[in-house]
Amino acid sequence: MSKEVQKGRILTGMRPTGPLHLGHYVGALENWVRLQEEYDCYFLIADYQALGDYADNITRIRDSVIEVTIDWLSVGLDPNKSTFVVQSYVPEHAELAMLLSMITPKGMIDRNPTLKSESATQKDISLGFYNYPASQVADILLPKANLVPVGDDQLPHVELTREIARKFNRMYGEIFPIPEALVGRVPRLVGIEGKEKMSKSLGNCIYLSDDSKTVEKKVNKMYTDPTRVRATDPGHIEGNVVFIYLDAFHPDKDELEKLKTSYKAGKIGDGEVKALLSKILNEFLDPIRERRAFYEAHPEKVREALVLGTQKSRKLAAATMTEVRNAMKIAGYEDIENIKKLIG
Ligand code: TRP
Repeated sequence: MSKEVQKGRILTGMRPTGPLHLGHYVGALENWVRLQEEYDCYFLIADYQALGDYADNITRIRDSVIEVTIDWLSVGLDPNKSTFVVQSYVPEHAELAMLLSMITPKGMIDRNPTLKSESATQKDISLGFYNYPASQVADILLPKANLVPVGDDQLPHVELTREIARKFNRMYGEIFPIPEALVGRVPRLVGIEGKEKMSKSLGNCIYLSDDSKTVEKKVNKMYTDPTRVRATDPGHIEGNVVFIYLDAFHPDKDELEKLKTSYKAGKIGDGEVKALLSKILNEFLDPIRERRAFYEAHPEKVREALVLGTQKSRKLAAATMTEVRNAMKIAGYEDIENIKKLIG
């Protein structure tokens, strides 16, 4: 045994389908950044999985691979500590997905909530899309991850991963750890309109790449307390979008409690609270903007993160696949002993 204590391993990822927003940050990215110190992290850019939705718009996926990489670098994911993986550059993801699909009961996929809701709205989903929960299982198991920090919409996939890992281990031998899921501090940040979860398709996002004027404009559009006519009317906190965001981003909880008390007493106006929220969000985004400016000025660093990540992840993937093939005995057909045995 090496003297160094073995670090646990993380695999998590995102589909490259557009720019990342505050919901991604508090729902997942914040954990990723923090856990880089403690874990050996693999961050997957799931471009193959994105084809499930965008097979007719490859340009969007291509552009977004780079955008997501820059978003990740900007929030502080560090390619010197962690490994960035482009899914299509590590063909073992597809190979393991195929093998695991052989031991995945179709009924388990039919019960997957993402699949269920998509099948309800799209009239004919593709076979590839149908297979996506199973391929996500392979993504997680390929680097033998112990922990999967994700947004809460991904929990069913991690549950499926645990079931399939147990089944594989039972059938072929103990290869895979049973991974745990970890959800972020704010699992469902509401969009700026205050109704649905923040989501690009709903147009209710504040993006990590928004400049400070854009953030101000978006905050000014937020609803506060509809029952309040004058600033001196007592204000309501519950369901108040501005306070939902302050709860998520205010760095000083005591100050926030004081603010809530004055708001409820009608001592502070909506304009003032919004100005404070804009300031807090912009202060939060400033270091992210600074890192983004650095990487935009150094495209070779973006390239390097992808190239180094690919090299490292391929090595690990190849090692796991050798183990998997050996465990399943899908190997050694050409061994002379094997040939002789069958000739008799
Ligand atoms: N399904 C995730 C998303 O839509 C992306 C993803 C692919 C992923 N493989 C994964 C997440 C493995 C966690 C673990 O963003």
